[in-house]
Amino acid sequence: MRNSPIGIFDSGIGGLTVANAIKKVLPNEKIIYFGDTEHLPYGEKSKEAIQNFSKKIISFLVKKRCKIIVIACNSASSVADNNIYNICKGIPIFNVIDPVITEIVEVCSNYNIGVIGTKATIRSQVYEKKIKRLCNNANVNSLATPLLAPMIEEGFINEEISHTIINNYLSNPILNNIDHLILACTHYPLIHNEISNYYKGKINVIDSAYIVAQHIKNTLKKNSLLSTKSDKEHHFYVSNYTVSFEKSAKFFFKEDLKLEEVSLFI
Ligand code: DGL
Repeated sequence: MRNSPIGIFDSGIGGLTVANAIKKVLPNEKIIYFGDTEHLPYGEKSKEAIQNFSKKIISFLVKKRCKIIVIACNSASSVADNNIYNICKGIPIFNVIDPVITEIVEVCSNYNIGVIGTKATIRSQVYEKKIKRLCNNANVNSLATPLLAPMIEEGFINEEISHTIINNYLSNPILNNIDHLILACTHYPLIHNEISNYYKGKINVIDSAYIVAQHIKNTLKKNSLLSTKSDKEHHFYVSNYTVSFEKSAKFFFKEDLKLEEVSLFI
């Protein structure tokens, strides 16, 4: 079991930022990635639709004999319930939210915390609920920023157009006076610097990729599930293949890769 792959999925290619962090933190692990490019953006979908897509993808990753599964999508993580966590008895499922909550509650007392993400993530209020449960004097303010994911996918990073969109969202009064900003979308690590620059480094900008990767490493270690081989043959599947997805996927994973199309939804 310990030499089985780590299964990772997202609505599309954003989760490759998490796959990239896992590759760096756990260089001996084999990755099987699934991007549901047929149904993206999940951020615009209903809770029920996202849950149904997630169940099918998890079953696919279970059939691929993954030892753990990572929901590398905030939109899917925000609506994951016990039906999802219990689909594959015995195979641990990780989301990208809980490790960030654990990290932030250590420093959140009396602080103002901002959250930006897709409409689905913000609508779920998952960050507010989880942070408040552990730290009831923290103030949490959330803002949906739906233009950021397609902007990043199109490669608009560190350009005039991205500065304009980012400035427009971050200057929203709801984010005034924040001390921490959670980047609650797996696309956003790619604009971490641009966002930090907006705040001139005065705000703690938190993205989940490395926090999640470190949490997974600790858990695998604790359960004697770290791979003993250095087999790095990763596989990348999508529900709808296009050349442009493949190009963006390389940009997100920061390595050459091939996407393979599989139909899970017929
Ligand atoms: N990567 C997804 C997330 O973390 C955002 C993209 C989408 O809306 O599908 O929420």
